[in-house]
Amino acid sequence: MGKKAVDILQIDVQRLIELLNAALSEEWLAYYQYWIGSRLMEGPMRSEIEPELLLHATQEFNHATLIVSRIIQLGGTPVLHPREWFSLARCEYEAPTDPYVEVILEQNLKGERCAIQRYKELADFTNGKDHTTHQMVTTILGEELEHENDIEEWLTDLQRMKDELRKLRL
Ligand SMILES: [Fe+2]
Ligand SMILES: [Fe+2]
Repeated sequence: MGKKAVDILQIDVQRLIELLNAALSEEWLAYYQYWIGSRLMEGPMRSEIEPELLLHATQEFNHATLIVSRIIQLGGTPVLHPREWFSLARCEYEAPTDPYVEVILEQNLKGERCAIQRYKELADFTNGKDHTTHQMVTTILGEELEHENDIEEWLTDLQRMKDELRKLRL
């Protein structure tokens, strides 16, 4: 990182790198959670939801790419071993042992809400102190909010579908 670039940062850079490495670990776990969940998923609307989950997975991968670049720019070392993802991540990885579509979506929803909290905190931490990181984390936050919204809408649609079927049976 250039001298002036370091000078204008009014932030605890080591702490920032730690937080970014935690976010990076969470992105990889979210990527895999989406990806493997979409492969295994069973139940109604599967064919519509599967490609959307794969798109979310790709977006989580893109977030990881952005974060790695910023950690390197800040003079830090991105997490080097996947083993560390679990100790650094605060968001839990839930193995999709039940492939039912609603269960998979609920797992992903938990992950998104955890990610939203992570990027809100990173946005607060960098606000007015590191404009470059701040811009990056608010962009990512916007996408996590869209992900949460997408999942909530699918869960609502599934619920409506079940309610309609129940009415037909009465
Ligand atoms: Fe993400
Ligand atoms: Fe997300």
